[in-house]
Amino acid sequence: MAFSFTKDLETGNVQIDAEHKQLIAAVNALLEACQQGKGRAQLESAINFLADYTKTHFAHEERLQQSCRYPQYEAHKKWHTDFIAQIQQLRDKFLAQGATLLLVGEVNGKTSLLISHIKSADLALAKYLREHEAK
Ligand SMILES: [Fe+2]
Ligand SMILES: [Fe+2]
Repeated sequence: MAFSFTKDLETGNVQIDAEHKQLIAAVNALLEACQQGKGRAQLESAINFLADYTKTHFAHEERLQQSCRYPQYEAHKKWHTDFIAQIQQLRDKFLAQGATLLLVGEVNGKTSLLISHIKSADLALAKYLREHEAK
């Protein structure tokens, strides 16, 4: 089952929304590689892209927060850091084990966590950025 970028995930910040769409596309590409039994190279490139893009996106959000002295910066950054560690672990497991049913289940679980983060923390961040006219 593919994830989709639904209306309730829109933060209204063009850049952040574009990056979230890209993240969801990366998750779907990984799930597709698992489900279609794609070769090892494709699976590795999908999990590597997801792990790297997650870091890129989080770093971007954190720069925005610092530039406008976002009051929730520490808590938001901590969530990002914990999530990056979880995705790195997932990547290590994929590289060691290939696409197992258990790992596919973990991808779904992590994606649900990410979507909850977008709906709460990132929506709150975008609102703050709007109100403080940060770009
Ligand atoms: Fe985000
Ligand atoms: Fe975030």
